[in-house]
Amino acid sequence: MTELTVAMPKGRIFEEAYKMLIEAGYNLPEEVEMSRKLIIEIPEEQIRFILAKPMDVPVYVEHGVADIGIAGKDVLLELQRNVHELLDLKISQCYIASAGLPNTKMNDIAPRIATKYPNIAMNYYKEMGEQVEIIELNGSIELAPMIGLADRIVDIVSTGRTLKENGLVEYERITDVSSRLIANPVSYRMKSARIQEIVSRLKKIVN
Ligand code: PRP
Repeated sequence: MTELTVAMPKGRIFEEAYKMLIEAGYNLPEEVEMSRKLIIEIPEEQIRFILAKPMDVPVYVEHGVADIGIAGKDVLLELQRNVHELLDLKISQCYIASAGLPNTKMNDIAPRIATKYPNIAMNYYKEMGEQVEIIELNGSIELAPMIGLADRIVDIVSTGRTLKENGLVEYERITDVSSRLIANPVSYRMKSARIQEIVSRLKKIVN
């Protein structure tokens, strides 16, 4: 059996994706979820997991050091890497929206948009015909309109709790997000039997 290297996002997507693989019949140890290791070898399944930051998964896959990976559609849209999107796993479902303080209009001249998705935000406002200034942040994006750094944020909304608890409201829903199985284009050809198998096993358990 050919060995498969799988890039997995650390954090909240990992647990759901890992459970899916177990459900799909892969013989994986339960305690891995708790470990701090960044490379996990599963010799019985000829699978090696590498645990990366969610934003880095498509980078490992594009460079071919991981054959396949699991990445959020938000990350794929933002990074536009050369990877094949094979399957919507329908986990970690959420969406990207613009939000801000209630009853506020955007500044007429170059309104400021805070986000960790500068490309998605730029493309969205371009399509809307709005010229904006993008302020890139790495997290806690909701702070920006609250302390006057930005007119709007473009960010992930999942339960909506973060917006609500910080007194912000959603303005426009931009795009739906869920986790996707992705593959390196060369691996997809060279290891097609193994990759096709994982796709068909996962497909059966996608809700
Ligand atoms: C994400 C996102 C929102 C929040 C949305 O942040 O950026 O802040 O989750 O979730 P909710 O609608 O369920 O409240 P994350 O927790 O990943 O941390 P971050 O602030 O570091 O981006």
